[in-house]
Amino acid sequence: MRIGILTSGGDCPGLNAVIRAAVLTGIKEYDFEFVGLRDGWRGLVQGDVRTLNRSAVRGISRVGGTILGTSRTNPYDAEGGGADNIAATMKRLGIDGIIAIGGEGTLAGAKRLADDGIPVLGVPKTIDNDLAATDYTFGFDTAVEIATEAGDRLRTTGDSHMRCMVLEVMGRHVGWIALHSGISVGAHAILIPEHPMTIEEISEYVRSVYDRGRAPLVVVSEGFKLAGMDEEYSRKGVDASNRPRLGGISEMLAPMIEEATGIESRSTVLGHIQRGGAPTGSDRVLATRFGIAAVRAAADGEWGSMVALRGTEIERVSFAEALGELKTVPQSRYEEIKHLFG
Ligand code: F6P
Repeated sequence: MRIGILTSGGDCPGLNAVIRAAVLTGIKEYDFEFVGLRDGWRGLVQGDVRTLNRSAVRGISRVGGTILGTSRTNPYDAEGGGADNIAATMKRLGIDGIIAIGGEGTLAGAKRLADDGIPVLGVPKTIDNDLAATDYTFGFDTAVEIATEAGDRLRTTGDSHMRCMVLEVMGRHVGWIALHSGISVGAHAILIPEHPMTIEEISEYVRSVYDRGRAPLVVVSEGFKLAGMDEEYSRKGVDASNRPRLGGISEMLAPMIEEATGIESRSTVLGHIQRGGAPTGSDRVLATRFGIAAVRAAADGEWGSMVALRGTEIERVSFAEALGELKTVPQSRYEEIKHLFG
């Protein structure tokens, strides 16, 4: 069997570990051949491939990014796309099935192709950890580690100047990175999209920390919104283009906190640093297990499924299940630590 592997959507530490494990498992245990499809679905649609053999994957599991490149190309919208064209391209290249490593958008494309008869398997990927059917995704642990280190560093400079430091981490829909890094760094407030708060509440936490002689640290998820923020904008007639963009909420919050409390405040947007560089050991392990499981699923002919971590085991789930509602931070998980704020 000849399998095409692609990485699609935003990159994520651990992608290369999946590729390596899949290729080595396939070659050593099943005598499979592999080709890499360049830049996600684009490589499949345009038949742009590269060799994936043992030497191509040597030593890559500790390297960040993806050796295959990635893009947000949709396999249906792109020129030459659509199930019929893709089936023809696969036939021409001698590819029997696809392993698609990606997040929500990638998996939606994979499901549609699978529904249209293309043999596709999914491997979940997102640093945000918001995919429904899997307990964890690789990349998340790395992002939390990086955010933790950033938070630790902000604390020492914050302490020196007695400033309120606001650290913005990724998570456009969910607050998992903010929650975990906020806990690990001992943040005085953690702000997540699932739990809007008013500037008064946030300022109260900040003030009480400062009054104890400590420098406050606030960790905020990029998708956080102040309670009533959207309504307030609508009331004032501020149109969507003039509202704070994603990846900038901390720049809005710091001056608001400073104004409300009189405490000098600074913001840091961590951004893509959370996605770059080497994966942590845990992420390499999870990514490796996913890669192995994906190839075993291909060997079993279980196309149309996605590998997922359930508890400590890797299982196969349907694309439909994988594309269920996003895994948000449950209220109970947030309440569990909220008494530590302030
Ligand atoms: O989905 C993962 C994520 O890291 C989000 O948290 C973030 O909003 C987004 O990617 C940014 O991705 P890009 O800049 O590549 O569009």
